[in-house]
Amino acid sequence: MLPDASTAPADFVWGVATSAYQIEGATTADGRGEGIWDRFCATPGKVRNGDTAEIACDFFHRYRDDIALMSELDVDAFRFSISWPRVQPAGRGRVNTRGLDFYDRLVDELLGAGIEPWVTLYHWDLPIALEEQGGWPARATADAFAEFTQVVAARLGDRVGHWLTHNEPWCTSWLGYGLGEHAPGTACRRSALAAAHHVLLSHGLAVDVLRRESPRGEIGIAVDLYPSHPATARPDDETAAVLFDGMRNRWILDPLLRGEYPVDMVEHYGGDVPPIADSDLRRIAAPIDFLAVNNYSRAVVRAGSDGDAPVEVHVEGAEYTDMGWEAYPDGMRETLVRLHREYGVTALVVSESGAAYPDVRGHDGSVRDPERTRYLQRYLAAVEDAIAEGAPVRGFFVWSLLDNFEWSFGYWRRFGLVYVDYPTLERVPKASFSWYRDRIAAARAGAPRSTSSPVSATSAADGPLTAAARAAVSG
Ligand code: FCB
Repeated sequence: MLPDASTAPADFVWGVATSAYQIEGATTADGRGEGIWDRFCATPGKVRNGDTAEIACDFFHRYRDDIALMSELDVDAFRFSISWPRVQPAGRGRVNTRGLDFYDRLVDELLGAGIEPWVTLYHWDLPIALEEQGGWPARATADAFAEFTQVVAARLGDRVGHWLTHNEPWCTSWLGYGLGEHAPGTACRRSALAAAHHVLLSHGLAVDVLRRESPRGEIGIAVDLYPSHPATARPDDETAAVLFDGMRNRWILDPLLRGEYPVDMVEHYGGDVPPIADSDLRRIAAPIDFLAVNNYSRAVVRAGSDGDAPVEVHVEGAEYTDMGWEAYPDGMRETLVRLHREYGVTALVVSESGAAYPDVRGHDGSVRDPERTRYLQRYLAAVEDAIAEGAPVRGFFVWSLLDNFEWSFGYWRRFGLVYVDYPTLERVPKASFSWYRDRIAAARAGAPRSTSSPVSATSAADGPLTAAARAAVSG
């Protein structure tokens, strides 16, 4: 049953998401230190085309203009992250006040424009000094993160209402330390598992700090989830799908939401699993106010020939984005419903979804991107389906406001609602920008905007949108 229009809250949060390293540029401004991604970009062969984030979108200098774009969209919220090397250039100890000042100005400017800041504390840019002391595979990095959280929250905690401790613990640990595709570029299973544990532990420590420093703030964590489907009904493919789900989803969700690692996976990883104290698990499972989900695609897998690692397969006839990710909106529905039913999560936010396509400017200077609009339409419809099945989804953030530095793909992949002409840094809203603006307006027309009620696990609401808004969202 869809929630009744008269009882549904009006406070569905419409937003756009970004991260510091991908948009800010100004990597040496105002005393910023070196981060692992600066080093990774400077290492030949790591980032496509030798691209670096030294300038990126120059958001550091142009944030006021970009907030004006957000005002045009009329979003409720802006998700951005804090660059740790900007705030603590050596990772621990000395605080670079000028670095913090930037985020102070940004938060005030957003609030002045009526846009809520949703702050991610860690979106992959670890100070190089901490990497040199062992990085995330070292337990001390979790303590360093708690200190960093303290520094940021003490400065911004009076004005920031929503915190995300980490972005995608799986990517931090596995892309960075297990597969070597992201900074710092280590490829070692044991390191990845240690990193994952310390990232999760640091999340728990940060929750404690935030409760103290930002008592009215709501706290969550952004996890990247991929439904895992077997390529065929053969038992070994089905086993492979369960294994993939364990590696990609349950290894992160179970400790966070149940205070335990999945037994089948502990067995699978065997001696590579780091020692885990019960007290760590209790910390990791500290109550949070919402779970934030990044979802773009699903995985279809078959059994690996060695009987171990599942292999992802290409789905004949499916649609793929420029990242080579299958556009599979029902995976969004499946993920959100699963979190509600299997894990009992009572407040969810979609903190990222979006699509890269090879956008070009037409002869009239405009950018027409019907594929992106269609992708977002279908994913939003899937969110609506999840809500109809009872998933408590409170908001949706498009990845991303701007085309930006897409990690090891450099500037080659464009995810923005706004096209960035890199040589001039000119911003050109794409057709999907106008579509999202109209979609938000239509949703609000059915669900009058109000900013008073919190996005929290304790809100008693049935679902975020009225019937009219739902019709607009899925139409
Ligand atoms: C997510 C990341 C984000 C961006 C999108 C495309 O995994 O959180 O920074 O790269 O993918």
